[in-house]
Amino acid sequence: MSTEGFAPKIERVEVSALQTLKLENLPFGKYFTDHMLVADYSAGEWRDVRIEPYRSFDIHPSMSALHYGQAIFEGIKAFRTSDGGVAIFRPSENLKRFNRSAARMEMPEVPAELFLDGMRELIRLDQAWVPDFPEHSLYIRPFMFATDHYLGVRPSETYRFMIILCPSGPFFMEPQRIFVERHYVRAVEGGVGYAKTAGNYGASMHAAAEARKLGYDQVLWTDPVEHRWVQEIGMMNVFFRIGDKVVTPGLDAGTILHGVTRDSLIALLKEWGWTVEERAISLDELHEAYDAGQLKEVFGSGTAASVSMIRELGFEDRSMVFDPASFELANALRKGLSDIREGRVADTHGWLMRVL
Ligand code: COI
Repeated sequence: MSTEGFAPKIERVEVSALQTLKLENLPFGKYFTDHMLVADYSAGEWRDVRIEPYRSFDIHPSMSALHYGQAIFEGIKAFRTSDGGVAIFRPSENLKRFNRSAARMEMPEVPAELFLDGMRELIRLDQAWVPDFPEHSLYIRPFMFATDHYLGVRPSETYRFMIILCPSGPFFMEPQRIFVERHYVRAVEGGVGYAKTAGNYGASMHAAAEARKLGYDQVLWTDPVEHRWVQEIGMMNVFFRIGDKVVTPGLDAGTILHGVTRDSLIALLKEWGWTVEERAISLDELHEAYDAGQLKEVFGSGTAASVSMIRELGFEDRSMVFDPASFELANALRKGLSDIREGRVADTHGWLMRVL
């Protein structure tokens, strides 16, 4: 499949759902645009790439993704830029991560043409759905799942790749109360922690629900052996400002998602002259820094929430509390990132892929 030849069949909706929907302040993940991209994989090739009206489809009860979980996804955002255009934020990074997830789950690679040109074509068609309000975006959800009708446990031979789009209002999470999880685990070395596979999210829900019963919003995951080393916060990468350094868990153990927002924040911090350390961080180090008054900011990063402030880290026997209103760095990062994404400052990093 070459870029030149990328020409999906297009079946347009007769009447756009936009006629009855206002794009301001829509909740995340609930409303979908008029069209979706679909491609099917069989006999070693992606075929039948098409853009269709957004609609449901039949699923065979033995479809293997439902049973054995070969299912991966990505989350990306497109923004209305200040010149009235539309740009997607760093989708090539998501493509790389998608294919790393695919390799780990023994699923086929998705070519750049299908992933990147596919989303560009789809967004061009549904361009009226990109909200034109501050901090609003069009959330792009590419995903792939196994479609063999077979209950034998082996990699599926057929797959479906799809892209759906949802306009969203500002995803501004209230500062969160986080329970430091030392029973349930999210990821182990050699496991699938770095892959954006559906099961990682399914497996996280029980711990989050238990934490909510205790009055928390989410959990801080720790390592599975000693419950001493910090991994991620809920579905986000985590950053700590300790004194005049910023630390975040390193990616080497394969237990941490390679966040595109994480990578962008690290780049901004370095440009702003901060020392950023990507390395193992223990709870002991956090306790010591907190007791010495040096643990100044804690925040999560992810595509959906951008930068999310943490106001408490709770343990069974103590808690660390923070005042997010004083988080100068996290607030500056949130603003710096949104200025780039929405085209208010020059895109000096080449992070924007223009659609229009
Ligand atoms: C993200 O923010 O990147 C996420 O993965 C959250 C999404 C699952 C809603």
